[in-house]
Amino acid sequence: MKIRSLLVGLVAVGLSSVALAAEPIVIKFSHVVAQDTPKGKAAEKFKALAEEYTKGAVKVEVYANSTLYKDKEEMEALQLGAVQLLAPSLAKFGPLGVREFEVFDLPYIFDGYEALNKITQGAVGQQLLAKLEPKGIRGLAFWDNGFKSFSANSPIKKPEDLRGKKMRIQSSKVLEEQMREVKSLPQVMAFSEVYQALQTGVVDGTENPHSNLYTQKMHEVQKHMTLTDHGYLGYAVITNKKFWDGLPAEIRTQLDKAMVESTVYANQIAKEENDKSLEAVRASGKTEIHTPTAEEKAAFKKAFAPVHKKMESRIGAELIQSIYKETG
Ligand code: LMR
Repeated sequence: MKIRSLLVGLVAVGLSSVALAAEPIVIKFSHVVAQDTPKGKAAEKFKALAEEYTKGAVKVEVYANSTLYKDKEEMEALQLGAVQLLAPSLAKFGPLGVREFEVFDLPYIFDGYEALNKITQGAVGQQLLAKLEPKGIRGLAFWDNGFKSFSANSPIKKPEDLRGKKMRIQSSKVLEEQMREVKSLPQVMAFSEVYQALQTGVVDGTENPHSNLYTQKMHEVQKHMTLTDHGYLGYAVITNKKFWDGLPAEIRTQLDKAMVESTVYANQIAKEENDKSLEAVRASGKTEIHTPTAEEKAAFKKAFAPVHKKMESRIGAELIQSIYKETG
């Protein structure tokens, strides 16, 4: 009788260890935008590749549209280990104490994707990601989104048109300075709250790449938009360092491969997705889209130019100079 119960016990232990070994590692990937955006699509791509390459040993759960965490909460959750992957905008690392990422917010610092990718896919980008390590965060990649347009309920054809307007911005001191430079009133707000704030008039306008504007339906509550391309919005894909380092080496290798490939994908689709969204906004007939003339664009550039110098002490003059040099 004793031997029988011992055998039953051993079988039970054996089975549960098999069951444990078969239990997939769950990676929660939280983000704040819609699934049908460059970041949303790239997150789904990573999920598909990660699950395929690890043969199901890893299960990636993607939570889009702030369904798991909002902007500020997601950073805290990552540090606590409650979520394993995020891709916050580069404009949202200041509150974490990593001010250098705000260099990406400097108005007109990048001429286009080519100049930008020299930084994100080069040595400067790697040095920037390394700044996350002391915070217990590992930076895995940069994912593109796109260049921002201003929107509001009245036309914005010159910098003076922004004067006195309450403009929603992300939590970046550079963006705050950018708006103050043209005497508008910057309001930091979580992405999930922007649509309602625009609808109810809590803020008058905002700035975003077209894919974000369109998928959040902001164009339905913004009568005017100007294709200023005055700044860049993109992402750092980040993980909890302890979690990543603690993964079995073979699993980590496969996940790294999935990340490299989904980064290529993200950066391939970003421009096209934003162009498609712009056309969709146009087709909706709800927002008048203004393409600035060369003179109008030059006026915005001139108005925002002092922001670079003013933000030197926050971001670091050397970093700003290295970007001018790499992209110039
Ligand atoms: C925003 O808050 O406007 C963006 O950072 C949202 C996003 O993740 O693209």
